[in-house]
Amino acid sequence: MKDHVLDVDEKSYWGPYYSYFPALARYIPLGEYARRVRPRACVLGASDGKFALPLLRAGWEVVGVETDALFLNGGEFDLVDGHHEVVGLRQRLASEGLTDDCVIVEQDYMTLPASGDFQLVMGSGLWSMPPNRAHTLEALIHHAMDMVAPGGIFFGEYLIGLNDEERRCGYYPPREEMDTIVDRPGWQLFENADLGIRGESHLGYEEWHYHRYAAAIVHRMPLPTTPEPAP
Ligand SMILES: C[S@@+](CC[C@H](N)C(=O)[O-])C[C@H]1O[C@@H](n2cnc3c(N)ncnc32)[C@H](O)[C@@H]1O
Repeated sequence: MKDHVLDVDEKSYWGPYYSYFPALARYIPLGEYARRVRPRACVLGASDGKFALPLLRAGWEVVGVETDALFLNGGEFDLVDGHHEVVGLRQRLASEGLTDDCVIVEQDYMTLPASGDFQLVMGSGLWSMPPNRAHTLEALIHHAMDMVAPGGIFFGEYLIGLNDEERRCGYYPPREEMDTIVDRPGWQLFENADLGIRGESHLGYEEWHYHRYAAAIVHRMPLPTTPEPAP
């Protein structure tokens, strides 16, 4: 991979589905800088490695948080578009010699401490999933943001409501609502982009349907440096 390019892992089950993830290449260290500094990313909903593997190959250490054992350990399923064999994240890490660089946490990320120690915290397409409805969208996003270290980046790929049911439930916010959620003291909004509507069918939602994708990229400002005491 070229040092300034970042792309999703196409071999992941989720690889063919749209993501704005490559845009992160504009903001985060990749290649030689990352290999020397070893920044840490937390991928929420790491699944079979669509985002974790490219970050690892680009020199990052990764904590992958995932509750679905199928995508961690591998398995098979049949959908309307045919038979699928998922190679789990654990096996994919082992085959690339990346096991030691990636810690897998098999837990709901809302149960983890948010102690601000990752240079990147990211999630994609998970906030509208049923188990997360135990929390408000604001609580889900703020917890993820609080895991980011000063100077780091939060990347939140979310879906904007396309019908009344989605609009009513509160987990498919309009872009303006996401602006309000991520507008917090000590944070700077880099982007909150409406990325357009796409048709798709996948595990968990086999009927052909449409999603309106969006992504917020937010920077946690570095802590102010303490001035040197006067001599
Ligand atoms: C729909 S998949 C998307 C996979 C991939 N991230 C993508 O965008 O293509 C979202 C993943 O997030 C996981 N997930 C959802 N909520 C989670 C939570 N609170 N903690 C950990 N994993 C979660 C799900 O198990 C699922 O594997």
